[in-house]
Amino acid sequence: MKIEDCIADFQIPQYLHYMDNAATSLIPEPVIASMNEYDRQYRANVGRGMHRLTRVATQRYQDAHDSVSDFIGGKEGTTVFTRNTTEAINMVAAGLDWQPGDRIVTTIVEHHSNLLPWLRLRQKGVEIIIIYPGHDGIFDIEAFDEAITANTRLVAVSHVSNVLGTVQPVREIAAICKERGAYFLVDGAQSVPHFSVDAQYIGCDFLCFSGHKMLGPTGTGVLWMRDTVDTVISPLILGGGTVDDVTTEGYTLTTGYRRYEGGTPNISGSIGLAQAAKYLESLGMDTICRHEQKLTERLLAGLAEVDHVTIHGPENIRNRIGVVSFTIDKIHPHEIAYLLDEKEAILVRSGDHCCIPLMRYLGLENGTVRASLYLYNTLEEIDLLIESIEEIARMV
Ligand SMILES: Cc1ncc(COP(=O)(O)O)c(C=O)c1O
Repeated sequence: MKIEDCIADFQIPQYLHYMDNAATSLIPEPVIASMNEYDRQYRANVGRGMHRLTRVATQRYQDAHDSVSDFIGGKEGTTVFTRNTTEAINMVAAGLDWQPGDRIVTTIVEHHSNLLPWLRLRQKGVEIIIIYPGHDGIFDIEAFDEAITANTRLVAVSHVSNVLGTVQPVREIAAICKERGAYFLVDGAQSVPHFSVDAQYIGCDFLCFSGHKMLGPTGTGVLWMRDTVDTVISPLILGGGTVDDVTTEGYTLTTGYRRYEGGTPNISGSIGLAQAAKYLESLGMDTICRHEQKLTERLLAGLAEVDHVTIHGPENIRNRIGVVSFTIDKIHPHEIAYLLDEKEAILVRSGDHCCIPLMRYLGLENGTVRASLYLYNTLEEIDLLIESIEEIARMV
């Protein structure tokens, strides 16, 4: 399938220009169909019983894990289904046996979901070190080299900033972590949907991402763990499915994803998530990435020409994706987002993007406007966005 042909799979009204993909993406018909098929034709619980429907459902649920593992090059590890990225990160934060004096290294660009779970660990005597990039969001790898000391237990970094669009040097950071014996958690919420991400190639220990940002249903996410760490964290939730044996004295936890998926999971959502991964693969992640780069290049070039507009993040396409934040002098970001919707039905995000510390660091008390692109956006839509911003900027 060609990328232009996929637009027909997204049943959003044609007059809407959806550019809020960093928040959540649209969902294509084949993903909806896969979930409907489960509910209509083989709905049953999974891993619990012998009748024919539960056998089909269990197999499809297992297949869903395999497809999602393949999608992120994670076959050697454990792929746990979660509700979202936030839950996946919290599972790691709550599951490791923190000791006073442990160090966690993270950055100022993190989404609150990859910051608050670590900040809370200060209560346990854990030291939190925050690394700062330049104002364009680009880090000096030396800063990680200095901060990741022998007592560093974990480093948590977003692969792509959901505000600045910058791609972080995760492979280099992974190498430092390996050398110093620190776990490395990558928040892939904004990378996995947009370019080919291979967990083994990166060399991380944990990779967290959300299904709903990659054409899957809401309420789906993933915690991938390297095979050597997949029993290191204790499960957040215990109960049906998580054990091999139970007596009144205690229990033996099972291995693999079941250890972490207590209770009946989101079966149709997981099947939908796997279908979303297959859908993206059928288009090709490299094709999707190139398409988004073309759009991003046009948007950056267009915005750079508009008086009173400031782009926050790199102004060229190197090391960044199509998450483009900007402000217009003297006009509140919420007003800009409202006007774009009112005038041309362009849907973008405005505000702090769940990154209040980053906004403080950048001196952006009202936040930014953020256009975040995906495979179904077109050059015509980008031109319309630029024209509309020009018109708004003339009000200054
Ligand atoms: C970089 C990053 N991390 C984490 C999250 C949290 O994702 P979720 O709300 O799906 O848990 C987001 C959501 O926007 C994000 O952009």
